Amino acid sequence: MGSIATYTPSESKLFKPLQIGNCLLQHRIVFPPLTRLRNDDDHVPLPLMEKYYADRGSTPGTLVIAEATAISHAEEGNWNNPGLVSDQQVEGWRKIIDAVHANKSVFFQQIWAMGRASLPDVLAVRGFPYRSSSAVPMKNSDTAPRAMIEAEILETIQSFVDTSKRAVLAGADGVEIHSAHGYLLDQFLTSSVNQRTDRWGGSIENRARLTLEVVRAVVQAIGAEKVAIRFSPYAGFQGSEKTDYLELYTYLIMELKKMDVKFAYLSLVEATGDPGALIWNDKAIHQDKSLNFILEAWDNLSPVIVAGGYQPDTAAWAVEEKYKKWNVMVAFGRHFIANPDLVFRIKHNIPLAKYNRPTFYSFKAWEGYNDYPFSPEFLEAHPHAVHPMVKE
Ligand code: PHB
Repeated sequence: MGSIATYTPSESKLFKPLQIGNCLLQHRIVFPPLTRLRNDDDHVPLPLMEKYYADRGSTPGTLVIAEATAISHAEEGNWNNPGLVSDQQVEGWRKIIDAVHANKSVFFQQIWAMGRASLPDVLAVRGFPYRSSSAVPMKNSDTAPRAMIEAEILETIQSFVDTSKRAVLAGADGVEIHSAHGYLLDQFLTSSVNQRTDRWGGSIENRARLTLEVVRAVVQAIGAEKVAIRFSPYAGFQGSEKTDYLELYTYLIMELKKMDVKFAYLSLVEATGDPGALIWNDKAIHQDKSLNFILEAWDNLSPVIVAGGYQPDTAAWAVEEKYKKWNVMVAFGRHFIANPDLVFRIKHNIPLAKYNRPTFYSFKAWEGYNDYPFSPEFLEAHPHAVHPMVKE
């Protein structure tokens, strides 16, 4: 067994190409979905997002995944986060996707419903209801969501389907269904949130039903090679902790495998990637918990993304050693924010720039978004890969 220091990132399997769905990635360093709040007040992408996404796809064959994007206006539950519903939203995303494709990179749209993780004030402005699987409030909130009725659950499945079709129409290479981190699908998975007594709650089978029905319907609509799924088995973020994670995720994986299709990829958040710990203080927790039981059950059906506090050296170790039996890609959120040429930097052993946390969520701002420079080495080697937009 090699130690972490045994593997040099630039010479590791991180740079071995990998097929996902219909797309060939040139390496295994992934730009993961990140909420950045740079959309306009109607949740339509702003032009500055074209540069941000194009720049992060500046090394050809990079998997670029969009920030979580709402499946309906009713699920646009934060200020300035995106949707993919109106014609303006589709056009906004089309331009972003075109810019990523111009750099020969691959684009997946992460799609979600926020449920009780929406801000009630944001919904109230447009008259949308505050909803979840059950009427269980978020911690430290005195506003309880109302439990969705069956018709709303079925409508949610249809909205996932319709949004997936719009993503493909806008040019996306696929969609990633967000079933993690205490958002709506996870609010059905988690027994402390889901207290329903109908076929959508109670047993593991019932709590998993919505995620599985969404996946099934989206696969039917756009084809499994364009479909990915994200889970965070250990996250405690937004009340998503689960005592039965072993049985629950084993069941989910077995049911996905029974669909007998090849998904584009599976995306898993490590215990160390819990946003509840990372967002505010960069502290990774639960370092002892492992994703191995899921990887074993999945058994290389499709490639798997792992995320959660990786550095170039630990990522190389993950693909070479920890997960060597599987086709694994590694996501870098915070480092990719600060380094548009992250892939090139890792390949050429160029030091990484430091991210500036206070600007992660600055509404509509160029600062902390498009002002992180490329390395001089990248600019010399690939001047045309840099998107030309400048701050107005
Ligand atoms: C967030 O907006 O903070 C956020 C969104 C999606 C995640 C995690 C965190 O999966």
